[in-house]
Amino acid sequence: EHMVLLGVPMDCGKRRRGCLMGPDAYRTAGIAEAFAGLGHSVTDLGNLAPRAYPQEPAGDKIHARNEVISWVETLSDAAEAAMAQGLPVFMGGDHALALGTVRGVANYAKSQGRPLYVLWLDAHSDFHTLDSTETGNLHGTPVAYVTGHAGFDGFPEVTAPVPADNICMIGLRSVDGAERVALEASRIRRHDMRDIDEHGIARPLQAFLQDVAANNGMLHVSLDVDFLDPAVAPAVGTTVPGGATVREAHLVCEILHDSGLLTSLDLVELNPFLDERGRTASLMVDLCASALGRRVFDRPTRSFS
Ligand code: ARG
Ligand code: MN
Ligand code: MN
Ligand code: MN
Repeated sequence: EHMVLLGVPMDCGKRRRGCLMGPDAYRTAGIAEAFAGLGHSVTDLGNLAPRAYPQEPAGDKIHARNEVISWVETLSDAAEAAMAQGLPVFMGGDHALALGTVRGVANYAKSQGRPLYVLWLDAHSDFHTLDSTETGNLHGTPVAYVTGHAGFDGFPEVTAPVPADNICMIGLRSVDGAERVALEASRIRRHDMRDIDEHGIARPLQAFLQDVAANNGMLHVSLDVDFLDPAVAPAVGTTVPGGATVREAHLVCEILHDSGLLTSLDLVELNPFLDERGRTASLMVDLCASALGRRVFDRPTRSFS
């Protein structure tokens, strides 16, 4: 596999600052070396930057709207181009980056005549529109945007909306009222932590991957640090207790690798300012390594078709 690393020092999808240091924390934790050690070739394209954008209107309920719009344009183009080079890893940056990465990856999938599937590993559903958001923070909106929901005036048109049927959320434990109503009216697959407690994390993932394989889909994974339990991953501004364990997260990544289906990856919401001696960045890099083939013993390749 050829790995394409893109740094996305995006910090405007919410108010608390620090995610702009994410890309360098992943580099410091050895992400490129981890991939290379697994036999992959690696290109680090450095950090992206948004083009110039108009000044934010005073009193806007939406935080940093114009800056985010500019990032979405930059990221869509970069994502589409990187897909043609290899397997892009978007080193965030906050989760608002997914408005752009998923839009670009979806455009690429469409150009290949293949459906895009999205696995959302997150405590949150990030399914707000500009109308429903309570905080005005755009990191809470990417799933609504990429599925083509109305109410994103001023944002680039979503030219290849991801069908709700192609999205699977795992790890949910903080969903706002409006998000819950909209999710329940949608066909998005959603697995809260109770599902995982009762049935384990492998089963819903395998069912989803079966579908991806059966439809020759491409698979984008968006991994939010707060998917993990804050006891093991403290470096995130939106911690929610009761998250995935280290073993559950590795199992997800190992199954992803076995499937051979992963085509792009977001690493989002790491705030190195909140980390403890780099442990969260290091855990995220270890999870990436599992998703790209690190293993203790080989197992027979699983077929998902
Ligand atoms: N639902 C809350 C909001 O709209 C929290 C979103 C958290 N999102 C995230 N990517 N951490 O602000
Ligand atoms: Mn998120
Ligand atoms: Mn989250
Ligand atoms: Mn369920």
